[in-house]
Amino acid sequence: MITWLLAGALFSGPVTLDKISSAEMCGRCHRDILRAWKTSVHAEALEDPLFQDALDLAVTEFGVQARSGCLKCHAPTVQYSSDTALVKKVTWEGVTCDFCHSLKSVSVVSGLPRLLVEFDGVKTGPLKDALSGAHGVAFSPVHTSSLVCAGCHEYRNAAGLAVLTTYSEWEASSYAAKQTHCQSCHMAAMSANVVDPKIKRVKETTVNLHQMPGSHSIEQLNKAIGARLTLARENGMLKVNVEVSNRGAGHMVPTGSPLRQVHLELRVLDASGKSYQGERVYTRKVVDRQGRELAAEHEVFVEAARVKEDTRLKAGERRVESFTFPLPPGVSANVRAQLWYYYSPLAQIEQQKKVSFLTLAQYAAP
Ligand code: HEC
Ligand code: HEC
Ligand code: HEC
Ligand code: HEC
Ligand code: HEC
Repeated sequence: MITWLLAGALFSGPVTLDKISSAEMCGRCHRDILRAWKTSVHAEALEDPLFQDALDLAVTEFGVQARSGCLKCHAPTVQYSSDTALVKKVTWEGVTCDFCHSLKSVSVVSGLPRLLVEFDGVKTGPLKDALSGAHGVAFSPVHTSSLVCAGCHEYRNAAGLAVLTTYSEWEASSYAAKQTHCQSCHMAAMSANVVDPKIKRVKETTVNLHQMPGSHSIEQLNKAIGARLTLARENGMLKVNVEVSNRGAGHMVPTGSPLRQVHLELRVLDASGKSYQGERVYTRKVVDRQGRELAAEHEVFVEAARVKEDTRLKAGERRVESFTFPLPPGVSANVRAQLWYYYSPLAQIEQQKKVSFLTLAQYAAP
């Protein structure tokens, strides 16, 4: 345990950093970063009730040894603190500051990430000329690259299936070739203080957004997917084309857990009162060794052995979906296309289950 006395600081006492420190401690100096991180999905990775339910199911179905596998990513400090009973505050902070900033190196060899994490008091990060009396600092090129995310966003299970492939999807995309790393889209620079100016005035006035928005942000979903609706009449039929494109994500959409889905729903209501529907689903269906389709996270992470079908949109991909419906000449119709993002099947409340992020409407004149 190292204690630093801060000359001129407004603390009533010294700041004491533990070997593995709570985010709240880091936030006494890095206030703006703490505020953003607190609203992130990372901060809830262990607390998340969906994760808690899935963890219970994993233990019931596969025994207590399954637990540590899940905690590796959802409570990554446990491996180093031995807090398997989950009693420490920092454990409940999930993907917390000190884990990411104690990462010394990351490499990915044949789809398997290897991490070196050392809680030695030196915080690694992207600043080349940082200097802190509170802890050691070291410039780390890994923190400016996608590799820093790979440890938890690329995963092969014991059954041999690559369950999470966000890193390798990115590697295969044109974004990797252009050196557009995860941080460009998930950690935008914003004006804020790296350190509370009362502690230290630093020339840097921007920080990287630690909220790391993803599919739980409508704004991100809208950046990711574009869509265009066109109508044509032919021989008593209405032909509807929806061009769907992954224009803004540096990986497949949806990415990550195989249970994430994007649905395109089409509805046609004609002037005579007849209605028609069409649908396309973008997802990756995975099955176990017996070919049984898996539909819950605890099973997917442990038992998935094969991809049965992958209909997701690759980075940069455009796909035209065509539908035809009967529509006699002289009858008008309203056409509506709606895109939905589906989260976890474990979700209890409708808003946690799915969100509608894009709606297009057109009128087919008589
Ligand atoms: C008492 C104040 C204080 C506390 C507490 C504190 N830091 Fe810092 N930290 C600083 C200062 C000052 C700098 C230097 C900023 C500069 O010079 O640009 C810094 C720099 C950093 C950097 C940048 C390193 C680099 O080279 O990019 C990281 C990362 C960091 N801190 C992480 C943490 C983490 C994680 C914690 C909690 C475990 C923490 N800090 C706790 C004051 C503090
Ligand atoms: C999921 C990993 C992760 C977590 C959790 C995380 N950081 Fe960071 N942090 C990063 C990365 C990556 C960068 C560098 C981004 C870049 O330069 O592109 C960074 C940058 C920083 C910097 C340098 C200034 C800046 O914004 O570039 C400081 C200081 C810092 N983080 C402190 C913290 C503190 C304090 C917390 C917790 C409240 C925290 N970090 C949580 C990954 C993380
Ligand atoms: C220590 C493991 C770990 C690291 C390192 C990590 N993540 Fe995550 N990340 C997770 C976990 C676990 C979740 C899911 C949490 C949940 O939903 O319960 C997640 C979720 C996310 C999400 C989804 C947000 C949403 O809206 O649902 C995004 C985006 C994300 N991470 C980006 C990143 C980026 C970018 C990096 C690298 C800078 C990174 N992560 C590094 C473990 C990690
Ligand atoms: C060109 C911009 C871009 C790059 C580069 C990028 N992402 Fe994303 N990412 C997005 C957008 C936009 C979304 C929202 C759409 C979605 O959720 O599929 C997203 C969503 C996500 C999600 C949410 C998935 C879920 O299940 O909730 C995760 C996790 C994620 N990204 C991680 C990463 C990681 C890790 C990298 C780097 C290896 C990365 N992203 C690179 C733009 C990008
Ligand atoms: C290699 C890291 C890793 C491991 C191991 C892991 N997860 Fe996750 N988990 C993630 C990431 C990353 C996400 C969400 C973002 C995404 O889809 O990419 C996630 C998402 C989830 C979700 C959905 C949460 C939500 O809010 O929608 C559940 C539930 C879940 N995991 C349960 C588990 C269980 C149970 C285990 C163990 C059997 C496990 N995870 C093992 C990284 C991991």
